[in-house]
Parts: sequence; C-alpha cells; structure tokens
Amino acid sequence: MISRRQFIKYLSYSFIVTKLNPVLADNKKIIKYNIIAKKSKFSFYKNFNANLLLYNNLNPGPQLNANVGDILKIEFTNNLDEPTSIHWHGIKNINKMDGVPYLTQDPIQPGETFSYEFPVNHSGTYWYHAHFESWQQVAKGLYGPLIIKDKIDDNFDDDIVILADDWRLNKNYQIDEKSFGSLRDWSHAGRIGNWFTINGEKSPEYKISKNGLTRLRFINASNARVLKFRSSLNSNKIIAVDGMIVKPFREETFTVGPGQRIDLLVDTVDISKVDYFEISNKNPLKAFSLKVKKANTKNRKFTKINLSPNYNLPKLNKAKTINIHMQGGAMGNLTKAKIDGVEKDFRALAMEDKKLWAFNKEIGNYEKLLSSVKKNDVVILNVWNDTRWPHSMHLHGHHFFVNSKEFTNYNNYLLRDTYLIQPNEKSKLIFLADNPGKWLFHCHMLEHAASGMVNYIKVT
Ligand code: C2O
Ligand code: CU
Repeated sequence: MISRRQFIKYLSYSFIVTKLNPVLADNKKIIKYNIIAKKSKFSFYKNFNANLLLYNNLNPGPQLNANVGDILKIEFTNNLDEPTSIHWHGIKNINKMDGVPYLTQDPIQPGETFSYEFPVNHSGTYWYHAHFESWQQVAKGLYGPLIIKDKIDDNFDDDIVILADDWRLNKNYQIDEKSFGSLRDWSHAGRIGNWFTINGEKSPEYKISKNGLTRLRFINASNARVLKFRSSLNSNKIIAVDGMIVKPFREETFTVGPGQRIDLLVDTVDISKVDYFEISNKNPLKAFSLKVKKANTKNRKFTKINLSPNYNLPKLNKAKTINIHMQGGAMGNLTKAKIDGVEKDFRALAMEDKKLWAFNKEIGNYEKLLSSVKKNDVVILNVWNDTRWPHSMHLHGHHFFVNSKEFTNYNNYLLRDTYLIQPNEKSKLIFLADNPGKWLFHCHMLEHAASGMVNYIKVT
C-alpha cells in the first residue's frame, strides 16, 4: 500500500511524466557516426599507391545519412599530423559546429577528438570537408557526402551520389605536392587537376532499376575546376540545386561550380544505359554511366511526387545592403589593398604575403569582419565580380536567393548556398539573417580563399 502522501507524490510525478511525454515523443533521433582523419594509401591507377588524407580510409569519405529533423552526432578524431576541422557545407548549422578554425572553433590538433552535434532541419544533398588549409587538405581527399532525406525520397528506386573531383597527379599517380601553393594557380583559376574521378573512380558504372526513378546527386568537390555535364539523354531533369528542391526543369548541359550540387531525376522507362560526360575540357571525359538491371518490382509512384519549393523570397523593403567589390588576381585591376590595416601594392602583397584577392580593397581572412547585421534582417549581398575569373561564392549558415541567369530553362530566383559568379557580373545574393553567429562568405576556389577572398558576416 502506498500512503496518501506518496500517492499524491506519485500522482504529481505521473502528471509531470505525462506532460513530458509529448516532448519525449518529439525528441529527435540522434544519428551517430565516427570519423577519423588520417594519412591513407589510395590507388588511382594500377599498383601506384598515392598518399592521401582520408576520412575512415575511404575516398570519398563515408556517406553520412540522416532524415530531416534528426540530430547528427559525429565523433571526429584527428589522426593527421597537422591540425584540421570539418565544415558541413550547406547545412544551416549552429555556429559553434560550423567548423571554421579560429572563427567558430579552435583547430583540432593531432590526436584530438572533437564532437560535432547539430540538428538537420532541411533535406537535400550536402557535403562535408576539411576547413583548415582546405586548399591542400581537400585536394588530398578530406571530404565526403552528407545526405539528408525526407518524404520525397521514398519515391525514388535508386539514389546515387555522384561526387566529382579533379585531382592533380604527377607521373607516378601521386598527388602533385610540389605545385601546392603555386602563385600561378592562386592568381589564376586555382588548382586545376588532370585526373577526374567520380566517387574516387574513373568512369564507374552504376546499376539502376528498370522502369524506375533515380535520383542523382552531383557534388563538385574539386578545389577549383568548374564542371560541366552532359548526358547521352541530351536532356537532364534538374530537381534540386545546392540541396534545395526546385520546380523541375530540363537542361541539355549543366554546370556545377566548386562546392555546388545539382540533383537530377532520371526516369528509366525505355532506357538501358545512360552515359554522362564531363565537358569542361576540349576533350569530353566519360564521367560515369548508369546501366539498367533487370528486375523491377515496384509500382511507379511518379505522379505522386510533388516537387515544388517551399520557400519565398523575403520582403526587400527594409533590406540591408552590403556591397562587395571583388578584385584581384592575374590580369586584374587591383593595384593596392589593405592587409591588417596596412596598404600595400599588389606586387608586394603577392610576393611578401601571397595575397591576391580582395573585397572592397581589403585582403580577407577567416577572422576579417565584412559586416554586422541584426538577427532577422533581410540582407542583400551586392556582389560585383570585377576580376577576370569566375568565382564560386559560398555563404555559411544561410541559404541565399539569387536571380540566376545560369540556366537556359529556368529564369527565376534559386535558393543556393554557393553561386558561381562570372567575370564582370553583378549579382544580388539575398538572405534572411535568421541564424546568429559568425558566418564566412568566401570563394570556393580554395586557392582564392587562401589568398584573400574570404570574410565573415556577423549576425547578432
Ligand atoms: Cu565548403 Cu567554407 O566551405
Ligand atoms: Cu575565386
């Protein structure tokens, strides 16, 4: 028997428990991964073994999967002999989990472990990569895909990540280490490679279901090469850009700048094989192919898929404009710029500091503030690419609207996290600053970022 007092206690306790129940039911599922960065061997060709830096000895790193609403928890160990950090590209993250050394966390030292834990509140195709000296760490293989699924994904029979990279190898099929830091690369297009892979392989073939629907998730993990694809179907149905669902449209070719993603929907009725080519070069490369395998059991659910974006351009009447005049690089018009408050001429910046690019005549770095805005401000990044080079501009912590002219059959705002801005182009990148913290805005041609094309925006 329980006493009255105990009974009341029990009652109130159970009352509390009941009240907590919905909260518990709402509790997010925690998806755990362990990732170790270390020196690894990888064979690009025959028995030549290249020395790479990899996550879990895999090239690319392990595919991380979660469902929208989950919490990702990644126990990360740095077994390299240099510091590192991981950035979750495209995720509207909690600032302290964003992985930018010095700005959002201390560099993770050799032997140290760091636990990244954050909710994933939007679905789509993302990736993660090293953000410490990424111009060499990413070039050596420190990246992997990060896929956040939602209900839409139940419709696809096959879901394939197409992570593309453009490696620079030497004659022995080793990473060409000598050219790291080449001033010529840094002042021109960045480190352009000579060995193209999809998911670490040369022209792989993927089996897909007959009469099925395949989602292809293209990710450009190259340091600098702007990739362009075409398929033997001559028509590619684009269903997402930078993770965000768009109203589907068709393009004969499509471009994926460094850091960007494009998702395609491939309908395999009456198709037995599809080849995809990378055509940024004079000589098109066969990137990969899809081969239809026999069995298919599923019923087509095509008609049920509702691919329409669920976001709207914010109101611009009270928007705050930040002007970003991009200058520098070879054949550019940057004659002098400030570095740490001191003005220097371009030649001295190049030779003494290895700095080549500027926003508003100032050389940037991870800790250089561009501008502060208030939480929930609508912000317009008014970007002018006054250089002779395209730049793949990436904003951390937010997605921005851009009225992009990059496609032939889509002429409206897109929601992106990385935008390839062409030489002389002026563009407005518009976002609602609803995520407090310090967020980098930088070129994803990683050599350009390292030599000055990076700042952060503070949201308070
Ligand atoms: Cu994908 Cu700051 O980077
Ligand atoms: Cu650039």
